[in-house]
Amino acid sequence: MRHGRFEKDLNALMRRLNASIGFDRRLHAEDLRGSLAWAEALQRSGLVTADDLKRIQDGLGRIQQEIDEGSFAFAEELEDIHMNVEARLTALAGAAGEKLHTGRSRNDQVATDFRLYVKGAAGEAMERIAALMRALVRAAEREFGVVIPAYTHLQRALPVLFSHHLIAYVEMLGRDRKRFLAAREAADVCPLGSGACAGNQFQVDREFLQRRLGFGDLTRNSMDAVSDRDFAADYLYAAALLLVHLSRFAEDLILWTSSEFGLVRLDDSVTTGSSMMPQKRNADAAELARGKAGRVSGRLVGLLMTMKGLPLTYNKDLQEDKEPVFDAADTLELILPVFQTMVETMAVSVERARALLRGGFLEATAVADYLTRKGVPFREAHRLSGQAVLRAEKLGLDLPGLPLEEYRALSPHFGQDLYGKISLEAALQDKTVTGGTAPERVREEIERWKKELAIS
Ligand code: ARG
Repeated sequence: MRHGRFEKDLNALMRRLNASIGFDRRLHAEDLRGSLAWAEALQRSGLVTADDLKRIQDGLGRIQQEIDEGSFAFAEELEDIHMNVEARLTALAGAAGEKLHTGRSRNDQVATDFRLYVKGAAGEAMERIAALMRALVRAAEREFGVVIPAYTHLQRALPVLFSHHLIAYVEMLGRDRKRFLAAREAADVCPLGSGACAGNQFQVDREFLQRRLGFGDLTRNSMDAVSDRDFAADYLYAAALLLVHLSRFAEDLILWTSSEFGLVRLDDSVTTGSSMMPQKRNADAAELARGKAGRVSGRLVGLLMTMKGLPLTYNKDLQEDKEPVFDAADTLELILPVFQTMVETMAVSVERARALLRGGFLEATAVADYLTRKGVPFREAHRLSGQAVLRAEKLGLDLPGLPLEEYRALSPHFGQDLYGKISLEAALQDKTVTGGTAPERVREEIERWKKELAIS
């Protein structure tokens, strides 16, 4: 590329700074696919002969083989994957190889490669998320009936089914899956044929390229086409929010597996030890997920900052677009399956769940509800129930153990039927609204998700 215009070689450090081959070699499959389609389009427009096309096809096939075998010599002097492939193609196919870049720019080429990559990565993320969702739904089925305290402000609040808690994460992951679908749709638009920035001067058939590369749509403005990276930001936002969700679940698991909670035991296969303290079983997988949420959110912000203030059209800043996406994709590829294993193998302790329900006055809301149903205005009922809690606390009792005289000293509305209405079972049973934790509602949600996720 420098043989024409330049009289001097690139400074060695500048060469290193400028090169992207160290990371964009990851786009080799997409680059070869794009070049193959481009060569076919050139032939259809009469810009290369059938014989040229054959040589190009053979050469690109050979390059794929060399990369697969590990014998392809990637060179920093050739800057990026696009010029590495072109140089090797020219060595293999001679003049035909030199014709490949006719009417094409690396600007529309890299946009095409990167869109193909993001489409694939988003699809993979969706599959991995679905697998984790299935594991959660199965765990919700397996542990159906276990009651735990739900927390607000990390203080025990109300009894819920453990399964209800698990399905909450299925809901979040379902939204994550939709966000990756949206990112995939954003990427699914073919920019090839936009040239450097103004469009293609050889009337190359862009509709053919779109079909040949399996894109759902075609970009409509060449300037936007070579400089748009919204699809990468969409992918990173989907990844960042997914990791934020996993970090919240991770925090629940970290708490639950502590000796203080003792509610969940993670399998040895996903638990690490300490180099010093032999007794330790650490939930490192969960802690790493929590940590990676920061990392991936940083990748999103990094890309947004790269894009901010960029004038149209292509600027070399855009070379910084790929590593954040690769890093996020690598992170998801590890964290999602590990999370899945963690969920598939975790064990819940019914005894510990029961113990956590005791002593937290979780029946207090039910006591207030009891009075409300007897016609006491809720604020008054709330105050009376609070006084019952205070009294029970002073006497060292729980609410079901507080004698009726104590209740009646607070309000004549209390009767013997109170005790049947404030059991934890009763508190679960009455949450029958859509989205509530009543067992039949949770069962319905499990069935709904099983259908949605094709679980038999
Ligand atoms: N390696 C470049 C990138 O990743 C390819 C596009 C280069 N285009 C250019 N006009 N220098 O963005």
